[in-house]
Amino acid sequence: MVEAMLPYFTEKYGNASSIYRLGREAASTMDEARRTVGGILNCEPREVIFTSCGTESDNLALRGVAFVRRRRRRDQIITSPIEHHAVSHTVEQLTREFGFEMVILPVNGYGMVDPADVEAAITDRTTLISIMYANNEVGTIEPVAEIGAIAREHGVPFHTDAVQAGGSLSLDVEELKVDFLSLSAHKFYGPKGVGVLYARRGVPFLPMQTGGAHEGKQRAGTENIPYIVGLATALKLAYQMQPRENERISALRDSLIEGILDHIPHAQLTGHPTQRLPNSASFVFQFIEGESILLNLDLKGVAASSGSACTSASLEPSHVLLAMGIPVEVAHGSLRLTLGRDNTLEDVDYVLEILPPIVEKLRAMSPLYAG
Ligand SMILES: Cc1ncc(COP(=O)(O)O)c(C=O)c1O
Repeated sequence: MVEAMLPYFTEKYGNASSIYRLGREAASTMDEARRTVGGILNCEPREVIFTSCGTESDNLALRGVAFVRRRRRRDQIITSPIEHHAVSHTVEQLTREFGFEMVILPVNGYGMVDPADVEAAITDRTTLISIMYANNEVGTIEPVAEIGAIAREHGVPFHTDAVQAGGSLSLDVEELKVDFLSLSAHKFYGPKGVGVLYARRGVPFLPMQTGGAHEGKQRAGTENIPYIVGLATALKLAYQMQPRENERISALRDSLIEGILDHIPHAQLTGHPTQRLPNSASFVFQFIEGESILLNLDLKGVAASSGSACTSASLEPSHVLLAMGIPVEVAHGSLRLTLGRDNTLEDVDYVLEILPPIVEKLRAMSPLYAG
């Protein structure tokens, strides 16, 4: 991927909006990248909008649709309580500052939305449904295609944050029946700071950045050609490797989950046992803090995160775990282990060797633990 990007930092530095040769070359490179992404998403290349990240894609879909449809007196947004903050904070701001109403659906103990709840929540004021494809903290895969079918039947635009699904799950927008889908390149080994918003043709939305005619007048701003090349190359590679990698990584994930649940008492898997991302193993360990576990793992060379990674500064327990009905004190002990392309069975064995004594040591120091 890096090799594919490098020439666009040096000799092929053209601006895709310029009409001289270097510019035209940049534009045709970008067209090719758009065709590559469109092929994987099963959409037209012009429905692919390059953005600066997953957060921007989420913001553009939500605000863009909300503002354009409010003109038709539709002001209610349906979403879930387990969304990434790029979605949830945007919906909250639309509610607080711009008078929209939000309906937050419940999730079950696995963090899964029931499509029947989506259908029951739709009214003639519903402007948009936004439910993520796969959760970033617990790995649960949502029934996106079923929700999409319901949204379509009721004529309501449907956005899915597919940032965590990119690279491992199908992104076919026809199968998924979505109108908007967000991606971020670094989740599939592309560069950080570049994303995609798929926007179905004919579903109106208001551009949030105004200026030039870039990205089909849907997102003004000079395109970052090297990063777009990196995104398209990484996405293509990820889907070439997908069947083999999914099988390999999910086998490692299952050994990790089984080993942890077998060897550590008072540990619980969070998220769905089978409907989960192939790379995701997430847990809660009672009586201890997730942050202490991950600091101890870091000292042993293992990079993990706690469910509350985004809010660790405030030590708030994860909103995802709380929405799933996990008690606050238990939610504090969350740990998320994500497997990747470089991981092997030896890595899993190493974690299974070092994690039980870490948990035991922390529990021995915990005033909450009675032994
Ligand atoms: C589910 C989900 N949505 C959105 C984002 C934000 O993406 P980005 O970091 O590219 O802005 C993330 C990042 O981790 C994510 O996991």
